[in-house]
Amino acid sequence: MAEPARRLPSAPQATPDPCALVLFGVTGDLARRKIVPALYHLAVAGALPEHFALVGFSRSAGDDGALRQRLRSALETHVKGGLDEGVWKRFAPRIHAVPGAVDDLVAYARLSKKLDELDREYGTEGNHLFYFATPSSIFAAILSQLKKSELVVPRRKASTRPWSRVIIEKPLGHDLASFEELTAVTRGVLDEHQIYRIDHYLGKETVQNILVFRFANAIFEPLWNQRHIDHVEITMAESIGVEGRGSFYEETGVVRDIVQNHLLQVLALCTMEPPVDFGPYEIRNMKSQVLRSLRLLHPGEVGENVVWGQYEGYREEPGVDAHSRTPTFVAMRAFIDNWRWNGVPFYLRAGKGLAGRLTEVSFHFRSVPACLFGDETTCRLIPSNVLKIRIQPDEGISLAVASKVPGEGQGVGGVNMDFSYAEAFDRKPPEAYERLLLDCMRGDPTLFARKDEVEFSWEFVDPILAAYEGSKLPLSIYPRGSQGPAEAAELLSRSGHKWGPIS
Ligand code: BG6
Repeated sequence: MAEPARRLPSAPQATPDPCALVLFGVTGDLARRKIVPALYHLAVAGALPEHFALVGFSRSAGDDGALRQRLRSALETHVKGGLDEGVWKRFAPRIHAVPGAVDDLVAYARLSKKLDELDREYGTEGNHLFYFATPSSIFAAILSQLKKSELVVPRRKASTRPWSRVIIEKPLGHDLASFEELTAVTRGVLDEHQIYRIDHYLGKETVQNILVFRFANAIFEPLWNQRHIDHVEITMAESIGVEGRGSFYEETGVVRDIVQNHLLQVLALCTMEPPVDFGPYEIRNMKSQVLRSLRLLHPGEVGENVVWGQYEGYREEPGVDAHSRTPTFVAMRAFIDNWRWNGVPFYLRAGKGLAGRLTEVSFHFRSVPACLFGDETTCRLIPSNVLKIRIQPDEGISLAVASKVPGEGQGVGGVNMDFSYAEAFDRKPPEAYERLLLDCMRGDPTLFARKDEVEFSWEFVDPILAAYEGSKLPLSIYPRGSQGPAEAAELLSRSGHKWGPIS
């Protein structure tokens, strides 16, 4: 049994400001599955601001009673361990409905009146957080109505009170050009510091721990470069399919859904330079810099560096074209052209319908420089050191090292040093959305993607997508529950590398 982890005192977190949160798309999937349960969990933990109200805005929101009933049943489905009646009794009266279509200016007048009432009733002090849990195609329409009704005004300074902030959810555009269009719309209405672009991976404890692990331990940083690291694997595998989101996924595919955001954010945290401090400006500068250093592929290079797959049966999913070429799996080899990472292959892999749910990063260190244990063939069998950061599930970190096998002679074998979150801290990490919602109420943008980070990510994936979508690059159909297409294994085996198993 591992010794319980010692906790050091940490800098006190700012208290979240009193505020009203307006949730567009309150009856949608994201709100029901993630956002409302996260708010409820914060209420259970007593972490919501004392002065808080939730306003659901949607065509089908109904009246307050109907919306409360609807959200209650969402919580009954999505909150593990059942609803706490005491908490619900305190949470429910804070939920209010404003029914209306996103382009109906009259509905925004009703919203404005409702927010005034709530500011008085709940002491929310005129601070308003607008969460766009809707398809990105209607972000512009919502913003323009918010602007016309003067519900949001651009603020030059982040410290101005009362504040209005907007949370937008990925996908942020369809490519760089459409992201720039979206940015032009948001910039006309808000200042950059009022825009919170959620990438829920950044809210995961294990993703935040990447920086703590790298920069609170002196032993790793000297090894964290092309002299010692041979290659890096980043995998995000899901066993589920598109789960009723077929028409959304047809527009998106795995590269826009996962690689452009979650995977590249994880890559950036793993590879960025040490920041001068842990503030939002510095951390995001460092991430942006490394994303800018990603090598862009020419159209002719995409075929040999990227493998595309689709799980068997995807074309029969509701909302999916019978001849769809939308990839549900991608594996690629990427390079970061900077001093630290020059020449190190980064293998990225993401997909649905695979053998298991697994997100992890593996750093494969170079082999020992000289062979001391037997002949060359025996030495080649000595496993290299692999540092694995398990983001989910079974959150933790392990380091594979070589060790003497007990007994006569010099037999060398691989062993694992393992740290598990659940064992060390005696609890599972909290849900990402909880942290992100609180940070937004605090006005802390550290864990949100800045405009330039999103731009560099699109710049990297755009030529890859263009090469696939504009040509006949092969798409492999792989069996559900498998490791993905065989070509993904070949992509690595050409360089003598091998993916870790998905299970
Ligand atoms: C979302 C994607 O951003 O992340 C989904 O749109 C995916 O397709 C989900 O299933 C995975 O999130 P998590 O937190 O379960 O790894």
